[in-house]
Amino acid sequence: MVAAQVVVAWALWAFAAFMVYLFLSGLPWGAGYSPTSRRQLEAAAELLQLKEDDTVYDLGSGFGRALIFFAKERHVHAIGAEIDPLRKAVAVWSARRHGVSALVTVLRKNLMDVDLRGSTKVFFFLSPLLMRRLQEKVGREMPPGALVVSVEHRFPDWEPAESRGDVHLYVVPAPKAQTRPFA
Ligand SMILES: C[S@@+](CC[C@H](N)C(=O)[O-])C[C@H]1O[C@@H](n2cnc3c(N)ncnc32)[C@H](O)[C@@H]1O
Repeated sequence: MVAAQVVVAWALWAFAAFMVYLFLSGLPWGAGYSPTSRRQLEAAAELLQLKEDDTVYDLGSGFGRALIFFAKERHVHAIGAEIDPLRKAVAVWSARRHGVSALVTVLRKNLMDVDLRGSTKVFFFLSPLLMRRLQEKVGREMPPGALVVSVEHRFPDWEPAESRGDVHLYVVPAPKAQTRPFA
């Protein structure tokens, strides 16, 4: 009887620890885990005008949900950057399981270190803590006219070109138009 209670207590601890890991790992780098919904992904794919053979980045790609959706449903090359090695491994395995590993690449990398020069379509669902640094990075590296979709969180200084619910599209402005006058 006591042995059974010990096993149950350990199982509960292990489950609780796993749940904490699941949602909070990544937080020290700026964002924990939360999955995007199918509605958000469909809105993102439309706003980014994804066409076959495009390349799209998912910064903070988690378990690969968006990467697999974009590759499978829009036949694009999808490149993810994910800080958490377990999530990266699950995303790679999941892409294989869905038959899209030829279209999906997952880098185990801090998203701030991803070179966005030349990329024209970027997606992310992160946290307010990262939005200013991301706005600066996108403005510095991506060409004017490139498309960026952020789920839930907005850039501090730029207005979305379009929003579908909580899915916001930005068109990268020319460098001199990037900061507010007097900001
Ligand atoms: C809200 S989830 C994104 C979900 C994913 N885009 C999807 O559609 O399923 C945020 C992810 O960003 C990762 N992350 C947070 N900060 C990061 C950083 N600095 N570099 C790379 N990944 C990061 C977290 O580990 C987490 O998996």
